[in-house]
Amino acid sequence: MKILITGGAGFIGSHVVRRFVSTYPNYQIVNLDKLTYAGNLENLLDVEQAPNYKFVKGDIVDAAFIHDLFEAEQFEAVIHLAAESHVDRSISNPIEFVMTNVVGTVNLLNAAKTSWKGSYDKKRFYHVSTDEVYGSLGEGSEMFTETTAYDPHSPYSASKASSDHFVRAYFDTYGMDCVISNCSNNYGSYHFPEKLIPLSIHNIKQNKAIPIYGKGENIRDWLWVEDHARAIDVIFHKAKTGTTYNIGGHNEWTNIDLIRTLCKVMDKKLGRAEGESEKLITYVTDRAGHDLRYAIDATKLKTDLGWEPSLQFEEGLEKTVDWYLENEKWLNNVTSGNYQHYYEEQYQNR
Ligand code: NAD
Ligand code: TYD
Repeated sequence: MKILITGGAGFIGSHVVRRFVSTYPNYQIVNLDKLTYAGNLENLLDVEQAPNYKFVKGDIVDAAFIHDLFEAEQFEAVIHLAAESHVDRSISNPIEFVMTNVVGTVNLLNAAKTSWKGSYDKKRFYHVSTDEVYGSLGEGSEMFTETTAYDPHSPYSASKASSDHFVRAYFDTYGMDCVISNCSNNYGSYHFPEKLIPLSIHNIKQNKAIPIYGKGENIRDWLWVEDHARAIDVIFHKAKTGTTYNIGGHNEWTNIDLIRTLCKVMDKKLGRAEGESEKLITYVTDRAGHDLRYAIDATKLKTDLGWEPSLQFEEGLEKTVDWYLENEKWLNNVTSGNYQHYYEEQYQNR
């Protein structure tokens, strides 16, 4: 089977590419990525020589390019992760989110529809989405299920909600084989240090302030990225057409409790006195429209397909810290911007 994975040079996409390339040697994996600031081919050094892997640089917003790629490659399936993914950036530049997340998704759906000529036997379009489309929960015990009404608040979540609706429209209107998953916040290796956990690890290491928005009371439900990649694998292979699954860790933390826990881990790993890293916590102006709480009910995925998270958060957090401390070169290349030269240096003259 030849699968197009979009956004495979990003955080979650690189884990999905690695999993598929190494687990399924009979599959041909084509990773299409624009290499925006969030795309980093150094996330994939361990699989880039694999015979069943190919990288293509390109923009999903470019309809003609996407159409030609589908014609040339004759994909049998798409796993679509390419997106603008950072809420803060969506607040300052919403249009980029509309272009990539909405227009880019529709371009891929159109190209798949044309290439598959309306016949979806042994074809699949898998759209990877977020729990943020459901909006915000109160502090009670309510959780997002697959039937929770969409109520996005940020430009990021509004663009992802829109893309989800387009995918469902292609299932309802054209009968395209589509599946969608909506996942909670991920953490783990290769996470770009603009998001809460990797940014905090980086800042603690550098003895820089850890910015906490508002009072730090917002709640997120954290899932280890490799558990997300495994869920995508299971859903891709086993879900019935037209199905949606929520994916989550049953692991809710207020931001401030999470960061205090991270500070303790960092003190231990860096040989600092207990309480040293916590002194870096700095409360800053809250994010506009900041959603209070996300929490996923992943019962359907467990009942239907047997998926459950494998890693306890404390263990996962320690593993993540260890990875960032052991992969100083990766982090330095990201913070210096060097990672953006990898494509020119390694690919352009091939
Ligand atoms: P990311 O920002 O780390 O990676 C996104 C990737 O998409 C990058 O490699 C980037 O270069 C690529 N890309 C962006 N615009 C593109 C375009 N126009 N054409 C081609 N490639 C383009 O994102 P991530 O955190 O890995 O998220 C991946 C997907 O998972 C997204 O769809 C996101 O909405 C979803 N998601 C993320 C989380 C999370 O916690 N990070 C949780 C649930 C769902
Ligand atoms: P983030 O990692 O940006 O993910 P998302 O906004 O998609 O949930 O943020 C996670 C939480 O941490 C969110 O409530 C915003 C908060 N946050 C901070 O308090 N400080 C920061 O510097 C960042 C980036 C996020």
